Amino acid sequence: MTTLTIDELAAGGDGLGRDEQGRVTFVAGAAVGDRLKLEITSAKRSFARGRIIEVIEAGPGRREAPCEYAGRCGGCQWLHVDYPSQIEAKTAILGSQLRKFVGEDLVIHPMIDVAPQELGWRRRARFAWVRPRRSDRALVGFFEAGSKRVTPIDGCVQMEPMLRRAHEAIVEQLAPRLTGKGSIVALAGKEGVTVAIEGPCEPAAAQALVEHEAIVGVRLGKRTFGLGAVTLEGGLRVAPDQFAQASSTGNEKLRQVVAAMVANHPKAGSLRIAEFFSGAGNLTEAFVEHAEAVVAVDTVETTMGLDGVRFIQGSAIDMARSLARKEEPFDVVVLDPPRVGARELMPWLAKLKASEIIYVSCDPATLVRDMTALAQKYALVEVQAIDMMPQTAHFEVVARLRRRDAA
Ligand SMILES: C[S@@+](CC[C@H](N)C(=O)[O-])C[C@H]1O[C@@H](n2cnc3c(N)ncnc32)[C@H](O)[C@@H]1O
Repeated sequence: MTTLTIDELAAGGDGLGRDEQGRVTFVAGAAVGDRLKLEITSAKRSFARGRIIEVIEAGPGRREAPCEYAGRCGGCQWLHVDYPSQIEAKTAILGSQLRKFVGEDLVIHPMIDVAPQELGWRRRARFAWVRPRRSDRALVGFFEAGSKRVTPIDGCVQMEPMLRRAHEAIVEQLAPRLTGKGSIVALAGKEGVTVAIEGPCEPAAAQALVEHEAIVGVRLGKRTFGLGAVTLEGGLRVAPDQFAQASSTGNEKLRQVVAAMVANHPKAGSLRIAEFFSGAGNLTEAFVEHAEAVVAVDTVETTMGLDGVRFIQGSAIDMARSLARKEEPFDVVVLDPPRVGARELMPWLAKLKASEIIYVSCDPATLVRDMTALAQKYALVEVQAIDMMPQTAHFEVVARLRRRDAA
């Protein structure tokens, strides 16, 4: 048993404190300023992990978590931290990641938060299910933190009201008809919620779900009952198993930030833009009015049609290579890769010779790694973070880079 004071919240969501020897200890469920009694669960030479036995003195940002599953369910790490302290922690994490770029002519805007909508924002969720032996129904919920064990939940305070109602229907109607294990992706759009069931389920049960007032479509394998996609911001039609930004309020802000950065380019109105990881066309639709021609690529096909945009289904690296070899001129590159970033793409992006790159990222660590690879040719000029996922350690960052030899 040991005692520890928490100094900061780390990028992974754990609290972090230092013992007398300066060794770092990570603690899940901690808040800045907490004085904690801990059990050390693992110890290496340079760091340790601890489990809270008792909060001896709560830090100023600690609060009662507004969720009965906090600490068990792996969905959120910071429900026990008040919202201003979450924003402070995310700002500090970003600041420390961007340390090496400070000193250049860089503007870091204050993080955009979504207060007062810090709960009830999630419009897309992936539920896991498992049917225990001799049970009359499957357990439906989220995975526990760091495990594949399902925490069954009756409701999640993070979900939009429509998604909550769809989840209730899944638990009440569908759970008794699910066998084995699997997952269900649900996406709330303008029409209601559309669902994709991935795992063993009776087709009649899937079909019956569409009768529920909140659910407009269900996909099971190759069969779709009702609507296969719903409408999101900008008229985007998205299927439940396609990528969609998790919050509609957060996404509106993201779209505005990206569109404003594109609009700020001196050639706005006649820009040639290459976009990588364009998904269903969410950002494309937001910035297209400032462009003359856009090439947008994603591995998943989109049904979006936009004047002046050539949507291409394919791999980002293949497309970047091919555009660079053709020496097609671009003014701006926009990219929004998954969390792993786009390390291999960087040399090819530099070859496109765009005067600006707008990089949208949900992981500042991979963003910084990739921007460092571009640093000889591109300077980071502007950063805007958006708190797309309150109660979690995640946030979105939009970075604007300018070619060093651009006029
Ligand atoms: C973070 S999402 C961004 C989507 C879109 N910009 C949006 O705002 O909805 C990442 C996208 O990268 C796509 N993707 C993943 N790996 C890819 C690859 N190697 N080449 C092209 N697209 C890829 C995924 O299909 C997904 O649509």
